[in-house]
Amino acid sequence: MSESSPASMEAIVSLCKRRGFIFQGSEIYGGLNGFWDYGPLGCELKRNIREAWWRAVVQRRDDVVGLDSAIIMHPRVWEASGHVEGFTDPMVDCRCCRRRFRADQVCEEQGLKLERGLDGRTLKLPAGVRCPACGAAELTEPRSFNLMFKTFVGPVEDSSAVTYLRPETAQGIFANFDNVLSTSRVKIPFGIAQIGKAFRNEINPRNFTFRSREFEQMELEFFIRPGTDAEWHEYWVAERLKWYASIGLPEGRLHRYVYGPDELAHYASACVDITYEFPFGTQELEGIAARGAFDLGRHQEFSGKPLQYFDPETRERFVPHVVEPSAGVDRIALALLCEAYREEWVPTADVPGEPRPAEPGQPLPEGYEARTVLRFAPCIAPVKAAVFPLLKNKPALVARARELYESLRERWPVFYDLQGAIGRRYRRQDEIGTPIGITVDFQTLEDDTVTLRDRDTMQQIRVPAAEVADRIAAAIR
Ligand code: GLY
Repeated sequence: MSESSPASMEAIVSLCKRRGFIFQGSEIYGGLNGFWDYGPLGCELKRNIREAWWRAVVQRRDDVVGLDSAIIMHPRVWEASGHVEGFTDPMVDCRCCRRRFRADQVCEEQGLKLERGLDGRTLKLPAGVRCPACGAAELTEPRSFNLMFKTFVGPVEDSSAVTYLRPETAQGIFANFDNVLSTSRVKIPFGIAQIGKAFRNEINPRNFTFRSREFEQMELEFFIRPGTDAEWHEYWVAERLKWYASIGLPEGRLHRYVYGPDELAHYASACVDITYEFPFGTQELEGIAARGAFDLGRHQEFSGKPLQYFDPETRERFVPHVVEPSAGVDRIALALLCEAYREEWVPTADVPGEPRPAEPGQPLPEGYEARTVLRFAPCIAPVKAAVFPLLKNKPALVARARELYESLRERWPVFYDLQGAIGRRYRRQDEIGTPIGITVDFQTLEDDTVTLRDRDTMQQIRVPAAEVADRIAAAIR
């Protein structure tokens, strides 16, 4: 695998399962389409993403506060937000094989475009479109399918008890705007941030975890004075791009997709998607939209409660406008896995030597072996370091290694491994992206130095055991 050619999704999916990053949801019952479970390493990866976002967007700023609102909200929320009426995808059925698809995706894949009916609202399939599964030209006309999951609150399953699992975390923020305003010392411009699960009954979940029915969002609603929308929108696009670079997604594989005027949602004055070059195509990680006063205005109208800001300096009262950076944790986790994944050839002896990209189909050169490595940025790596006693049958080595491990795990997820040859132990950690290997050997017993091995270069240096924690901290920063 060369630096430039993307890894295959098949290889990434297989590693995720083999090493406990991501499993098919409900797998023991045959799976449930569109749902995924994160294993021991996957949940650490996601935790690191969330924490990096929270640090950048909330903790290190004076102008943003956090929120954790309920997943199930009053159904009027979703009327006000427009989701009950308009949060739909166009769905078609194949009369021949009976499968169901998203009409816009089917058309796009066949180089065609969905057409509008004479009323300008209904959608029509263009001529020549075929079923992507069986090839028959037997698709029904598109029908609108609402993506919200419906459920009932309380024991009676009638229409007055209908509620929805939230399709975005954003509305919890708008609904709490006044609560936050009156209880925190925030002044415009300010933001409210939330991380949490959201649910969409996707017609066609696909591309591994990319489009799933349950997912996690990290959303910021940044409230501003009307008229400053363009500058704050630009500011947040730039901030968010810097953040992606800080977690190891390089500028070269990130892009901005700027919405044209005819693509914007009715409430938005601008929208930019930050996209990443996945192996299955360049797709959205985050949308940054200037939503004007739409959301607060609608909640004001539907709830009958004023949602305004009083500026003590100018003595003006107004409904703030909002800029919304909205990112998907699962999509970022998948992008990080795709970015980090490498297949390499490395020198067999555990001595310094440069890894090189594997050349698929070519025989391994003499003195080399193949390794799979996840080159995660250390701040994102699920396990920060692994401690190895050189030999497992030497009690003094094992005791010192264990002691070091126990002191390090007070601060970070650290792994301890004494099984098998040291080279194999390094490989196991390479495959899950652990940046630093620490080996306790006979010299340690004499001078309390240990070997630190770098995952990417495989270079080894000797350092005093007392310096190890500082070195891990420096690498993570
Ligand atoms: N709040 C924007 C979104 O969920 O896509």
